[in-house]
Amino acid sequence: MSMKRTIVAASVLACDFTKIGEECARIEKAGTDWLHLDVMDGHFVDNISFGPPVAESISKIATVPIDVHLMIERPDHFFPRFLPYASNITIHIEPDYDIGATLRQIRHEGASCGLAISPPTPFEKVEPFLNQIDLLLIMTVNPGFGGQTFISEMIEKVRRAADLRQDQRLDFHIEVDGGIHEETAEIARLAGANVMVAGTGIFKASDPRSAIQCLREKDANLSQPGQPS
Ligand code: DX5
Ligand code: ZN
Repeated sequence: MSMKRTIVAASVLACDFTKIGEECARIEKAGTDWLHLDVMDGHFVDNISFGPPVAESISKIATVPIDVHLMIERPDHFFPRFLPYASNITIHIEPDYDIGATLRQIRHEGASCGLAISPPTPFEKVEPFLNQIDLLLIMTVNPGFGGQTFISEMIEKVRRAADLRQDQRLDFHIEVDGGIHEETAEIARLAGANVMVAGTGIFKASDPRSAIQCLREKDANLSQPGQPS
């Protein structure tokens, strides 16, 4: 199996919102690779978080790529509002809209495109789109809230994604999101995931630098000399 370098994406949902700019700067300084923005609309998930104005403010101060995760009923309608601020935009497979066309439009507008799958959704649903995505987000909790417990059964989806990626010679990132900390990150990484989203595990850590390092520290054991990273 080809190994990709592990990327850590800190979920801003877990920050102290009274000082969001300082919080993002603190976590960038601690070494996060990406900032992950969880956008929730109160329809697709039972929570409301933040929208384009917050993404815009964060983009003004961010020095790392912004990974936008749209947990909303109409990603096709709203994704253009996030485009100016995002390196990657991830949309969910579950709502009823034209997924293929939306993925194409996101790429056409110059961002990378991701597709997310919630725990109850069968993996087969995303299979037809694997050849047109840059990232597959496998939710390891039910979307809507930070601080939940990792659902270990989702590892089977990570394995399946990694196998298909290899069989079909594709190159998308495999991102896991929800309940990710040192142990669950290692389980996910061994199954083939290479992007670790963590909110609580980073923002609430007493030592965020070491928390981030723990999400990727076993890389050295995995990559053999001569293998692409
Ligand atoms: C959940 C969000 C996650 C969440 C992760 O709906 O997509 O990104 O913020 O939070 P933790 O790391 O606390 O499980
Ligand atoms: Zn997320």
